Amino acid sequence: QNPKISPTPPMGFNNWARFMCNLNETLFTQTADAMLSHGLLAAGYNNINLDDCWSLKERNAEGQLEWDTSLFPHGLPWLGDYLHTRGFNFGIYTNSGNITCGLYPGSQDHEELDAKTFEKWGVDYLKVDGCHLDLQHGRTYYEEFRYRYELWHDVLTTKLKTPFIFSQSAPAYFSPNFHLDQNNTDWYRTMEYVRNNGELARHSDDIKVYGDNPTNTFEPGGHWESMMNNYGMQVRLSRFQSCGFFNDPDFLIVDWPDLSMDEKRTHFALWSSFSAPLILSAWIPDLTKEDVEYLTNKDIIAVDQDALCEQATLVSQNDFFDVLTKNLANGDRLVTVLNRGDDANATSVPIERLGLHPKGAYKAKDLWTGKTTSVKNKAIHVKLRSRQTAIYRLSSDAKLKATPTGQIFNTFS
Ligand code: DGJ
Repeated sequence: QNPKISPTPPMGFNNWARFMCNLNETLFTQTADAMLSHGLLAAGYNNINLDDCWSLKERNAEGQLEWDTSLFPHGLPWLGDYLHTRGFNFGIYTNSGNITCGLYPGSQDHEELDAKTFEKWGVDYLKVDGCHLDLQHGRTYYEEFRYRYELWHDVLTTKLKTPFIFSQSAPAYFSPNFHLDQNNTDWYRTMEYVRNNGELARHSDDIKVYGDNPTNTFEPGGHWESMMNNYGMQVRLSRFQSCGFFNDPDFLIVDWPDLSMDEKRTHFALWSSFSAPLILSAWIPDLTKEDVEYLTNKDIIAVDQDALCEQATLVSQNDFFDVLTKNLANGDRLVTVLNRGDDANATSVPIERLGLHPKGAYKAKDLWTGKTTSVKNKAIHVKLRSRQTAIYRLSSDAKLKATPTGQIFNTFS
């Protein structure tokens, strides 16, 4: 990866989990306006990304992709300008196979042409999905995916004036939930190369889509479980992440009505602890004041965007609590405690469990309330409602001794 393209995890908006193929121009112009008026752009959410289903069903006579003018009457370059003049990047979607998941033309064997078309339209950010790959020259799925994503990397870094932010879907298609790989080998092998290709990579199932969308094909409910599934997958992957490449556990589904405020805040706190991309998939104009407030929490966004780019790792787990930690660039230490259980419960996290010297004097800033307290009795004591998450920044007068992430803490990979 090239840490200059996106040194910290991208933030922004994508329509997919909320609207799927129901996209059009006003969805994006109204989203951009609302991102501005809610202060989301100012908080760092600066990418507005189209997903699948924006194009015509056929390429034109020159073989180029074309936008669907019934959905985008002013055209995509116009939309790109609309976004740029307001301070956003413009993101678009294509697919590494020859047909997208939504059955529109894909980019297989058109990689350079499509990249140049997108460049002409003013695109800054490209998601390349992984449906319907045609296996060529006797390649296996692993080999064809690898060939295509490495080709995309070459095209984006050598054929354009400025490379796009490159969002890859490949590893997700080899995740244990999919049929392409029975034993996780190709999943890990795919993680190894995507980190050299682009700025982010999806590794797990789609986060469940909004339930009352007319095109929704999923059962209602299951949003918490979906979020926990992707969390559980990401926690195994910390060793792949470094500045400029981020493991992507998929969107923040902010306005799903069945998710409680605790569950939504947990989603945000866990993704931020991971330094994961923070891409909202929601109807932004109708976000509540409470939603906007937690999504723009400066202290938590600073953890997500921390200059060390570490992904928090698990230091302990029991039937109820997960405790995660990571080092922060100024020498502080992040401590995140999730109550996965169905009841309110209390726990204590001994300082030593975090790899910190028990003799040190520590202060903990609660990033939800902004209050700082001294750590007493060499442990952090938390009481949490079901599915609530506490998130603290620990500091000490003496510099905290950094423990390398992925060595003593990563119990999974
Ligand atoms: C599968 C991806 O994982 C989703 O995020 C979305 O891009 C859809 N495909 C679009 O068809």
